[in-house]
Amino acid sequence: MSQIVWHEELPSTMPEAARWANEGAPHGSVVAARKQTAGQGRHGRRWESEAGTGLYFTEILRVRAAAADLPVITLALGLAVAEALTQVSGLAMDLRWPNDVLLDGRKVCGILTQLEQSAVLAGIGVNLNQREFPPEIAAVATSLWLACGREFRADEMLAEILPRIDFYAALLEREGRQPILRLFERSSSYAMGRRVQVDLGGRVLQGVTDGLDELGFLRVRKEDGTQELVLAGGVRPWV
Ligand code: BTN
Repeated sequence: MSQIVWHEELPSTMPEAARWANEGAPHGSVVAARKQTAGQGRHGRRWESEAGTGLYFTEILRVRAAAADLPVITLALGLAVAEALTQVSGLAMDLRWPNDVLLDGRKVCGILTQLEQSAVLAGIGVNLNQREFPPEIAAVATSLWLACGREFRADEMLAEILPRIDFYAALLEREGRQPILRLFERSSSYAMGRRVQVDLGGRVLQGVTDGLDELGFLRVRKEDGTQELVLAGGVRPWV
């Protein structure tokens, strides 16, 4: 059973969870906030975190957290959230490597994983009730409200997600990386045979995805026939 601490407002649930993890919080402890004033996204970006519009939380996972397992833990979190969102909304979700949950091709959930000493911090933001988004992300973001036309409660959504994270974390402990990798490949339209371009920071890689390697990194086959392994980067359709 997870211990969940709700805050009305935090700068971000990530540093609060890191502090708590360093004080010895047990596996499954959750820091959640109704609102974040400095929500953190991946690659140093900001995560929009208005009160009442989204679910914002960080779960402390004390799993076999060798650095080598982080990519697959990240994939497992995407699987858990996608399954919960489908359960609650009745809508099909897609996964974009490594762990964005997409609805109608747009991002409905973002996941940020960090290693904090021996714990993994799983930071999850779900767009629930936004009617609109700031212009700079309006074309690439969506919410459950925009797709379903009804309101969703953050605490109910959290209650759907947590047992699924437990399930996938236990599966990883018990059976290793393979089941998660295969499930992700089955659940993601981006994992295999998709023309993508990947922003690698200094350069853009273009090619067709070719599944995941044994650690969970993305294989991309380039037009010259060679393969490149993507360790991190923003994946987008290549049209
Ligand atoms: C991404 O850029 O896709 C990751 C977004 C992660 C956002 C969540 S909201 C809860 C937790 N606290 C944060 O400040 N960020 C993560």
